[in-house]
Amino acid sequence: MTSFWSIWVIVLTLACLALIFGLLLWNLKNYVGVKEGESCGHEFDGIEEINNPLPKWWTYMFFATFVWAVYYLAAYPGLGNWQGLAKWTSSNQGVTSLAESKKATEEALANGEKVQLDQEIIAAEERFGPIFEAFAKQDIETLAKDEKALEIGQRLFSQNCAQCHGSDARGATGFPNLTDKDWLYGGTPDKIKETLLHGRIAAMPPWKAALGEQGVKEMTAYVLSLSGRKVNQKDADAGQAKFAMCAACHGADGKGSVAHNLPFGAPNLTDNIWLYGGSQRAVEETLNNGRAGVMPAWKDILGEDKVHLLTAYVYSLSQDK
Ligand code: HEC
Ligand code: HEC
Repeated sequence: MTSFWSIWVIVLTLACLALIFGLLLWNLKNYVGVKEGESCGHEFDGIEEINNPLPKWWTYMFFATFVWAVYYLAAYPGLGNWQGLAKWTSSNQGVTSLAESKKATEEALANGEKVQLDQEIIAAEERFGPIFEAFAKQDIETLAKDEKALEIGQRLFSQNCAQCHGSDARGATGFPNLTDKDWLYGGTPDKIKETLLHGRIAAMPPWKAALGEQGVKEMTAYVLSLSGRKVNQKDADAGQAKFAMCAACHGADGKGSVAHNLPFGAPNLTDNIWLYGGSQRAVEETLNNGRAGVMPAWKDILGEDKVHLLTAYVYSLSQDK
């Protein structure tokens, strides 16, 4: 708020309170000219107006609300830009990144400011931290069979991962299914944990310029033929002839990065499982414009212990039960 509006709000608030307080005081005096309990001399449909004072309980309650209002306005923000004596803030306003948020939290705590959410988070860490720590000491394969661990893992998943991977972890277009055995980056505990801790950024380059319209059509035919689809054989053969440019990431056989121990996250093109859709149009779109799926990094957001539990949960999803 600019200081003009701040002053405006302060003046309005205080003037309003003063006015109401004055009105209350004024009503406590007897200005009517007749004694209490006597008729004011009006009568409406047989109902007489008696000069009765305001009820005591009501008056005291009204005074109490004033005391409360004065305390509240002094302690908490509400009077324009006045921060309040309690130095309470609802959020770290203006914070745009995780690093800034952590810094603001530390500063606020050091200054004794009451940042409510942060204090709740700290209290929760104190309470649940030891539980996560105990789980973090066990290896992932063991945790993947521990009901309690999986229950917590599932909750963490609902809170942090379901919006992209779905509440059942089966994914959606562009967001991989985590319950099958088809992996972009590998499904071993180590690989999954690496994915979760550091995130992944996929880089499938666009090929429109290199291949041209006809080239994309031919390559699409070849890609679809890899998973046993019926295609124009002449097109597919022409595509196959150029597949060397794809082999660096997808492997010469198209079975993907994991099959060839490569770090690129290039999907297996032979299993008829599609991240971006297996229609001719979807594959042409992939080839023309490329794809760049982003899996966020969770190390700084959740911490290693929670990631450890989540890894066990994700790992358990694709294991035969
Ligand atoms: C630099 C490595 C790289 C090269 C080279 C590359 N790709 Fe990819 N490709 C990827 C990655 C990584 C993805 C996954 C993209 C994502 O997850 O966002 C991908 C995804 C795809 C998909 C989508 C699969 C699905 O399940 O939806 C197709 C189809 C594809 N690539 C075909 C090709 C073809 C054909 C070529 C050669 C013309 C090629 N790629 C070359 C890395 C590569
Ligand atoms: C903002 C959306 C988003 C959120 C939130 C998200 N992910 Fe992902 N995740 C992705 C995308 C997109 C990919 C695929 C990256 C690519 O295309 O290469 C991915 C990939 C993965 C993979 C790798 C799968 C493979 O086949 O190798 C795992 C495991 C995973 N996510 C687990 C999680 C977990 C656990 C969480 C919650 C802590 C989570 N994700 C939250 C978008 C998200």
